[in-house]
This record gives sequence, C-alpha cells and structure tokens, in this order.
Amino acid sequence: MVLYHSMNRKNGIIIKTPDQISGIRKASHLTAMTLDMIGQYVKPWVSTEELDHICNEFILRNGWKSACIGYHGYPKYTCISSNDTICHGIPSKNEILKEGDIINIDVTSLVGGYFGDASRMYPVGNISKEARDLIQVSKECLDIWLAEVRPGNYFWNIGYYINDYAELKWYSIVREYTWHGTGVEFHEEPYVYHKAPKNSWPKIQPGMIFTIEPMVNIGEYKTKLLSDGWTVKTKDGSLSAQWEHTILVTESGYEILTQ
Ligand code: MF3
Ligand code: CO
Ligand code: CO
Repeated sequence: MVLYHSMNRKNGIIIKTPDQISGIRKASHLTAMTLDMIGQYVKPWVSTEELDHICNEFILRNGWKSACIGYHGYPKYTCISSNDTICHGIPSKNEILKEGDIINIDVTSLVGGYFGDASRMYPVGNISKEARDLIQVSKECLDIWLAEVRPGNYFWNIGYYINDYAELKWYSIVREYTWHGTGVEFHEEPYVYHKAPKNSWPKIQPGMIFTIEPMVNIGEYKTKLLSDGWTVKTKDGSLSAQWEHTILVTESGYEILTQ
C-alpha cells in the first residue's frame, strides 16, 4: 500500500502512478456510465430521490459504491441541483420534476479506492430557449477551454478564460466554489477558482488528475447557502448550470476520463 502522504507531488499536487491512473480511469468510466444511464429516467413527475436511488442501484450492481454518501455527513448518493440551485442539491422525495425544469446530476463513484467525479445537465421535457442557451454556454465553458489543459500551462489560466468567455456571453461564473484535484481522494490539491488571475502558479504537469466544473448563472454570480448546510442557490433566483469532467494530463495534452 502506498501512503497518501508519501506520494510523488509537485507543488503539493499528486503526480499519479500508472496504477493509480488505471484505477481512476475505472472509477471515472463508471461515473460516466451512470450519467449516460440516468438520462432516460429524467422526466416530469419523477422525484429527485428516485433518480438518486436509480444511480445508486446502478453503481452497486456494477460492484462499487457512491463516494458522496457520508462525505462530511452528506446524506444522499448523488447531488441533484435543479433550476436556481447551483450545486450540492440534496435529492428529495418531495422534489418532483416538472416540464421545463433543468437539473444537474453530479455523480462520484468510488472504485477500488479511487474516485471519478463528473456532472451533466438534463432538460425535463421541453425547456425554454433561455434555459437551452444557458445549458449550451455552460457546456462550452468546459469544452472549449479543455484545450488549455497541457503540460506547462498554468491551472489558473483555464479559470481566467472560462470566466472571460461566460462574461462575453453575458452570464456570470460562480466565484466561491472551486474545481479540484481528484482520484486518490475525493478532493485534493489543487483547488482552483473558475474566475482566476492569469499566469499564476502552479503549473500543469503530466500525471495530474483534476476536475473542471464551471457553474454558470444567468444573473449575478452571488450565492446563498440553505439551512440544510449543502444546497447552494443563486442569490437572485436566476437559473444556473454546470458540467464537470475528471481529466488526466498527458505528455501532449489531456484525456477526459469521464467521457
Ligand atoms: N461532486 C461534487 C464535486 O464536484 C462534490 C459533492 S460533495 C457531496 O466536487 F458530499 F455533496 F457529495
Ligand atoms: Co468535483
Ligand atoms: Co462532482
């Protein structure tokens, strides 16, 4: 067994070994399969708790488990964040989906001790043009700037470009929550904001694994935390969307592990 604290690090960031990479690849693959599978169940009249259970059953059936339940006391298997909820929405039997809602489902599976973290947006039936555009631009915020993931570039530059792009489209990027290293732990160094200064250390190196997960609001960037201690909503009640991948840095660029 390799001790967490004795791992090879650059600026505190773990450089994953080939064995760790293959474990994290498996966990990420199961996360992506879960997100593929759940799409068909997202419809009006379904509760977010039902979706949570279906995801959990799927992960268990594949022999592994959700990393979310019990994490700092988190009570459910996935996070499901609808409409003006930015992130960490707690699935509930009282939350029944209705036509026109948009939801983010965030899954982290734990496979053989390794973590794979990803989320996607799902429309509930027909949604407004406003919601469709938000989902589209938030996906672009992740997809377009993946090209910046390459050895030698600065982590924070990706945040800089993501924020710049969102503002160009007249949206705002949530400032309080970061993306993060992942794989050996659920959340590891580095923690990077999606609105970030350019050219500040540390630099990206091969073997690093981290998420990118911009949260994009139609209105202002400000957030409010509900009294359950988890649910984060937009302060102004505007719609919010997020996409997340777990990404491996290769010698020449990147590989999306949660594809
Ligand atoms: N999956 C979330 C992230 O992207 C974290 C959820 S923590 C939980 O980092 F406890 F709410 F599951
Ligand atoms: Co994450
Ligand atoms: Co996540």
